[in-house]
Amino acid sequence: MLTERIDGEVFERAPQLLVVSNMAVGHNNIDVAEATRRGVRVGNTPGVLTEATADLTVALLLAAARRLVDGCRFASSGDWKTWDPLGHLGQELHERTVGIVGLGRIGAAVARRLRFGWNMRVLYASRSPKPAAELELGATRVELDRLLTESDFVVAMTDLNPSTAGMFDAGAFRRMKRTAVFINASRGGVVNQADLIAALEAGDIFAAGLDVTDPEPPPPDDPIYSAPNLVLTPHIASATFEARSRMAEMAAKNVVAGLAGVPLPHAVNPEVETRTRKG
Ligand code: GLV
Ligand code: GLV
Repeated sequence: MLTERIDGEVFERAPQLLVVSNMAVGHNNIDVAEATRRGVRVGNTPGVLTEATADLTVALLLAAARRLVDGCRFASSGDWKTWDPLGHLGQELHERTVGIVGLGRIGAAVARRLRFGWNMRVLYASRSPKPAAELELGATRVELDRLLTESDFVVAMTDLNPSTAGMFDAGAFRRMKRTAVFINASRGGVVNQADLIAALEAGDIFAAGLDVTDPEPPPPDDPIYSAPNLVLTPHIASATFEARSRMAEMAAKNVVAGLAGVPLPHAVNPEVETRTRKG
């Protein structure tokens, strides 16, 4: 599971290990370089969770932009007395600008929903240009700094690695518009959580939606639970009957292939030569 750290210590204690099959597309929980060095094959579950994850990301975006959770609480709190013209005001999505950091499969699926659903302008920041997405979505590749300054919605959809760890920090939130909505459904580690909470408290940004935190779950007294204008879900972006079934099947097929010594259907380190158990 993505909650399990698979590193040198595990490999050291499991000399017979042939394959590590992650039931997730992200694999930052696995020391892949170390696995490769030891000839252990690593599999993941790309593709099958893309649409489910994009749906939840957009759900978070809508919920945060329209203050849905606050509204739900208010509606059943007993405080709902009248229709208030200036109450519960949120941000509109129509024809605004979304900035996606990491335009991979899931980032592009999010962009597609926002482009064709709300006619949004799509900016993206990425290590490499994405010509197909530019063509399909009219997406424009920009420097991170410009993305943060110009976007009404900033969506983190990058993998967690040393270059992305903590990249959404005080400096990043300060660059965003005061009306900005920040969404993260990738990995908690790309956000400096204390800085995000401070930005929400100071009103430096309008709202945030998080499906991931660091750690997961946050401890009971974590200030994340009381941050204003924050919608928090428990890492459920791929949690549909369909996606989780397909992920389970794909993960199982990777294990079977690994044990049989044939190439994994979805390998993270395909360069590792197939081998079978010693002795
Ligand atoms: C979920 O977070 C995944 O990486 O599949
Ligand atoms: C709101 O319910 C409206 O009718 O404007």
